[in-house]
Amino acid sequence: MSILLAGEFDAAERAQWFDLLRAALPEETLVTEPTDAAAIDIAIVANPPAGALRGLPKLRLIQSLWAGVDRLLADDSVPPEVPLARMVDPAMNEAMAETALWAVLSLQRDFVDYAVQQRDGRWLPHPQRRADEVRVAVLGLGQMGRAVVRRLDANGYRVAGWSTREGQLDNLLAASDIVLNLLPLTPATRGLFDARRLAAMRRGASLVNLARGAHVVDADLLAALDAGQLRHAVLDVFHREPLSADHPFWAHPRVTVLPHVAAQTDARSAAAIAAANVRRWRAGEPVANLVDRSRGY
Ligand code: GLV
Repeated sequence: MSILLAGEFDAAERAQWFDLLRAALPEETLVTEPTDAAAIDIAIVANPPAGALRGLPKLRLIQSLWAGVDRLLADDSVPPEVPLARMVDPAMNEAMAETALWAVLSLQRDFVDYAVQQRDGRWLPHPQRRADEVRVAVLGLGQMGRAVVRRLDANGYRVAGWSTREGQLDNLLAASDIVLNLLPLTPATRGLFDARRLAAMRRGASLVNLARGAHVVDADLLAALDAGQLRHAVLDVFHREPLSADHPFWAHPRVTVLPHVAAQTDARSAAAIAAANVRRWRAGEPVANLVDRSRGY
């Protein structure tokens, strides 16, 4: 049997993954095209385009190289009975914690505003705030959310965590200067940041979205920013990626755009993690980090 490596890679990324996985799984046959579809029983995938896993009659395990599996779950070519494991990698959690800290620091110390002022050639110091004066809500308390809470805590912020199990969100939104979204994208969280929830945030608060673009209703966010209800948005993720060249987020002075880099999969560590799961599967042992499809993550 063989393992299919599939995803939205450029040629260099594909070669890097192929080499690392081949080194980590020397006993396996690894392919990048399903030429012999009936020989493939495992797929290792990085956010593959819809349909990439169609027509694999012997597929028995899917290992994602991405932490978020919303695209795979929305793909009707992915058989619902085949176990699907997500990537859980401490290296990604730490990368996410770094990005979260950078975003929160940039907002606390007004560095987002100084970037705009530099563009405009404007010298204007702002009053300096302490970390313990900034209340941050972290939405999503999975592995990444917990790593972010620890990092922000260690840096002195007033951090409150929230997960969908807790229900009521509005009180926390009203009490936070920065809302940092790390929720999985599920039917329950899609469009979470709509006009109503943005209005429930404190006036002048900021939104940091490091999860999925579809958590946010773009037009509602732009309206909240333009009305001064929100101070700033740091956005790493978008409905369509790459973000289209004419999207208003690009040039908006109150929006910081990142090209989906908050926590990229680190191929060096993730290849070993994927390989360990493949070996567990071959040995008939429980596979780690299986997705609960009824929960959506
Ligand atoms: C990136 O967004 C991931 O889900 O790994």
